[in-house]
Amino acid sequence: IADDLRFTTTAHPAPVDADERAARLVDPGFGRVFTDHMVTIRYAEGKGWHDAVIGPRGPLTLDPATAVFHYAQEIFEGMKAYRLDDGGIGLFRPEANARRFRQSARRMAMAELPEALFLRSIEELVRIDRDWIPAIDGGALYLRPFMIASEVFLGVKPASEYLYMVIASSVGGYFKGGAPSITIWVSGDYTRAAPGGTGAAKCGGNYASSLIAQAEAIAQGCDQVVFLDAVERRYVEELGGMNLFFVFDDGEIRTPPLGGTILPGITRESILTLAAEEGLRVSEAPYALDDWRADAASGRLRETFACGTAAVVTPVGHVASAEGRFSIGNGGPGAATLRLRERLVAIQRGAAPDPHGWVHRI
Ligand code: COI
Repeated sequence: IADDLRFTTTAHPAPVDADERAARLVDPGFGRVFTDHMVTIRYAEGKGWHDAVIGPRGPLTLDPATAVFHYAQEIFEGMKAYRLDDGGIGLFRPEANARRFRQSARRMAMAELPEALFLRSIEELVRIDRDWIPAIDGGALYLRPFMIASEVFLGVKPASEYLYMVIASSVGGYFKGGAPSITIWVSGDYTRAAPGGTGAAKCGGNYASSLIAQAEAIAQGCDQVVFLDAVERRYVEELGGMNLFFVFDDGEIRTPPLGGTILPGITRESILTLAAEEGLRVSEAPYALDDWRADAASGRLRETFACGTAAVVTPVGHVASAEGRFSIGNGGPGAATLRLRERLVAIQRGAAPDPHGWVHRI
């Protein structure tokens, strides 16, 4: 029944006018410029999913005892809508986001939103706010679906009511300044996820717990934090909000394996596919910090890059830790990194054939 849910749509009574919108879209940065509308769908035990609404974007009024404020039952997704070369609009692999959202919900003991409903909610919002896709290089509409426990109750248990929402933000690049590569800080004091924990779920708590380490990275003059595994404190896992790849001189490209502590990135998975097509030898295997440092010094390691929906493909030039610093290659973007980024972006923008059916037209 939920899949047949009808959306009630109310256009914003006072949308941002075209001139003002154009001004906001010149240099939107990341996550500060928002569109006119939002989606809300409610869930209650016994009633299921109901009240699907596309309405004016605006503040929420919530009781202070709403469960999410206390026990952090919250999940989210990140995905982009692009203006395609032929003038259409495309989402990149939104079915994968819908599936991951359901998996995150399951891990956090939340109601699972049917994937078809997730997809429709995204499509409806992109349709009504399509003029907010910035026509700048690297511009996109970043969709942020999320869900909170909305039951008003202080008992510690899975909530019986949920609020699902989608907001949209006009974005350019995630990193300011357009430097050719980023520097990352290896956190010695903090870990992101332990076996059996929530590392593979896209829940707000994972990001909250990463912030102190990210702040330490910034204080050390770095751009992002990279976490080691929680058991041995030896293997490289991922950044605060991006997966990592390593490119070697013998044609191997490696990324840490999914095993419950790593976020299963959709960009990560796409890169694995594209890299194999490019003739690279793909491996999902652990990589120790000590090996990373030694291989960078010997030249066996040629490139490192971070990837994610927000970050796309971002070269890592330098690594800093309490033990000192090292550089990768000449500190600038490597050839494989650039080739993979170009291929990915070309598919996302409809500028290259899409043999895997990754682009979902709206
Ligand atoms: C994304 O890449 O979409 C993310 O979720 C990472 C971060 C912006 C939270």
